[in-house]
Amino acid sequence: MKPFTVLELLQKAPSILETVEIKGWVKTFRANRFIALNDGSSLNNIQCVVDFEKFDESLLKRITTGAALHITGELVESQGKGQHVEIMVSTLHILGDSNPETYPIQPKKHSFEFLREQAHLRTRTNTFSAVMRLRSALSFAIHKYFNEQGFYYMHAPIITGSDAEGAGEMFRVTSLDPKNPPLDEKGDVDYTLDFFGKETKLTVSGQLEAETYAMSLGKVYTFGPTFRAENSNTSRHLAEFWMIEPEVAFLDLDGNMDLAEDFLKYILKYLLDHHEEDLNFLDKRQQDEDKTKPQAERNEMGLIEKLKFVTENHFMRLSYTEAIDILRNSKPNKKKKFKYIITEWGADLQSEHERFLVEKHFKSPVILFDYPANIKAFYMRLNDDGKTVRAMDILFPGIGEIVGGAQREERLEVLKQKMAAINIPEAELWWYLDLRKYGTAVHSGFGLGFERLVMFATGMGNIRDVIPYPRTPQNAEF
Ligand code: 4AD
Ligand code: MG
Repeated sequence: MKPFTVLELLQKAPSILETVEIKGWVKTFRANRFIALNDGSSLNNIQCVVDFEKFDESLLKRITTGAALHITGELVESQGKGQHVEIMVSTLHILGDSNPETYPIQPKKHSFEFLREQAHLRTRTNTFSAVMRLRSALSFAIHKYFNEQGFYYMHAPIITGSDAEGAGEMFRVTSLDPKNPPLDEKGDVDYTLDFFGKETKLTVSGQLEAETYAMSLGKVYTFGPTFRAENSNTSRHLAEFWMIEPEVAFLDLDGNMDLAEDFLKYILKYLLDHHEEDLNFLDKRQQDEDKTKPQAERNEMGLIEKLKFVTENHFMRLSYTEAIDILRNSKPNKKKKFKYIITEWGADLQSEHERFLVEKHFKSPVILFDYPANIKAFYMRLNDDGKTVRAMDILFPGIGEIVGGAQREERLEVLKQKMAAINIPEAELWWYLDLRKYGTAVHSGFGLGFERLVMFATGMGNIRDVIPYPRTPQNAEF
């Protein structure tokens, strides 16, 4: 007998001639007769019908929410509503009991805050199993896209000696004894005696290494964990998150924008085409939740409507300077509704400004480019005006910045000057400078924050709910 998944069984035609086998966890057990069994393969459960006269009462008592079961039986046409097939149980084994008194995932609505504390069990709920299935599907679609486009997948190092973003918000990696570290003459910790013989950190981005591979393999991308020790306790920031970073030789900023737009549309379209069931469920969940909120806080679009909106519309492209003009003259700026009032060119954009542009002004995804040099990273190509760089950020409804990227500075002297201006020693990035000495060329890339993408695609409002085990300030449980 071949064991099936719930998904497979639900797609099968009923047949009393065939005995099927299934293993899964009990969602509910009704009327001493109907078991809703789930194994993670589908949002839907398979209904298993037990004839209670055929089984010991002591066994039936152990069929409680959360218990693991092994069932065999005939797959028959369902008599009830809600499913077309069900299993008439002939054998039933309890693989693992669950204590109904203490099992945290009761068959009722739990708050996301509560479920975060039970993150090891929260994927037993419909919402989290749907979110994590979609997360997996998105990750597959990303690899599929790049593979089809002739990109190579590159694994950038996680432990690094350089600060790619120049922001200095990094976690240290050391094997020194914190109680008794070796000290140098000045009394500072002597990292030459540390594991790697130098100071090392967890990477904030694989970009710099990806650039080295783009400048030999042509088109590459990374997809790995990145770490930021910024103490921002928001619904959009994690200390450990996953980033996708394509990097392409001979590509300028316009080409980079085209690539990012095509890529985002492709992966969201992939979800719409292949994962309708989970999306429909989350769409409905969002609508139900909206009903409990005041009008102003409700989502303007349903989840699926929003995804189609992105896949079917052009992304609005405009310069930072144009955006500043729009923001300066906007109603919330004039009426001082923004927390950060935009007074002059050069201001860093906050999430409230990004969302205004996307959600209120343009009502479409937006790509902003040519930002002031001094609010962007050192590696971005300086424009002829001497004050802006070839940066681009992609802004999405409900999220704000989802992608950050740039055309890279390929001119050796300009790059050296930019590094010197912010005190990055050339000795630290000698290999990065080498790329500009030996066959330098225009090249570009971007970084997509994977969890921000999953938030967008699932309609979840907090980034802690789209990664299995979120790492945030004061929290590294599990
Ligand atoms: O804009 P960022 O900092 O860009 C880079 O790291 C570049 N090296 C990318 C590149 O050009 N190859 O980060 C890229 C994206 C952001 O747009 C955002 O979506 C996400 O990464 N991100 C975060 N996501 C979750 N938590 C955080 N703390 C994040 N910081 C950035
Ligand atoms: Mg950014």
